Amino acid sequence: MRLDKFLADMNIGTRSEIKKMIRKGLVTVNNEVIKDSGVSVTSNDEISFNGELISYQEYEYIMLNKPAGVISASEDKRQETVIDLLDERHRKDLFPVGRLDKDTVGLLLITNDGQLAHDLLSPAKHVDKLYRAKVTGALDESDVKSFAQGIKIDDEFTSLPARLKIISSGDISEAEVTIREGKFHQIKRMFSALGHEVTWLKRVSMGPLTLDESLKEGEYRVLTTSEITALKGKR
Ligand code: URA
Repeated sequence: MRLDKFLADMNIGTRSEIKKMIRKGLVTVNNEVIKDSGVSVTSNDEISFNGELISYQEYEYIMLNKPAGVISASEDKRQETVIDLLDERHRKDLFPVGRLDKDTVGLLLITNDGQLAHDLLSPAKHVDKLYRAKVTGALDESDVKSFAQGIKIDDEFTSLPARLKIISSGDISEAEVTIREGKFHQIKRMFSALGHEVTWLKRVSMGPLTLDESLKEGEYRVLTTSEITALKGKR
C-alpha cells in the first residue's frame, strides 16, 4: 500500500497532514528518509515517524467499560463518543459493535473488524448478551415467565424468549437478563411492558466475551488472543 495510507490507517494524522510530514522528512522507510508519499510499502518494511517505529495492525480489538454519558457512535459533532475515550489506539477506522444507550454502562467491543461485528450482531447467530439491571418495583415469578415466553412490546414487536434471573426484589429490584436480540432500548422496553422502569443497566457479557471487572468505567484494554479466538469461534 502507499506510504501515506499506511500512516493514515495507523492514525498518525489525516492524509494531507501526513503528506506534509513526509515532505518535511519526518518519515523513514528502512532507515532511509522518504519524501514521496506514494511510495509502496508492506508490513515487512520498517517505517518510522519522528524516530518512532510504527507497526501496521490490520485489525484492532478493544474492550471498553462504557461509562454513562457517552454515546455509542464513531463520531458526533456535539456529543462525546466511545471512540473519543480511546487515547491509545492504532486504527483510525474503529467503531463500536452494537449500541448501548447513553446511560447504559458496561461491556462494549470496539474494533475495525466488520465481519466479526456482523457475525456478533446477526440475529441468526444467536449471540447471548447478559445484562444486570435495577428496576422499580418488586419482581416475581410472573415476570420470569413473561420474559421466558417473549414480551409483546407493541403492535410491531414481540421479543424473543429471554431469561430473567431475580437477584433481589423490593422497591428497587435487581436482576440479570439474557437476550439474543439487540433492538433499540430493548431491555428498558421489555421491563416497561411489565410495569417496571429500568433505573440502571450494565452489559456484562456478549457471547464468550465477559467484561473485565478490573476495568473501571471509562477504562479499556486490548483483547487477549484467547478472547479474540473465542469470539471468532462464534462464527
Ligand atoms: N437494552 C436497553 O434498553 N438499553 C441498552 O443500552 C441495551 C439493551
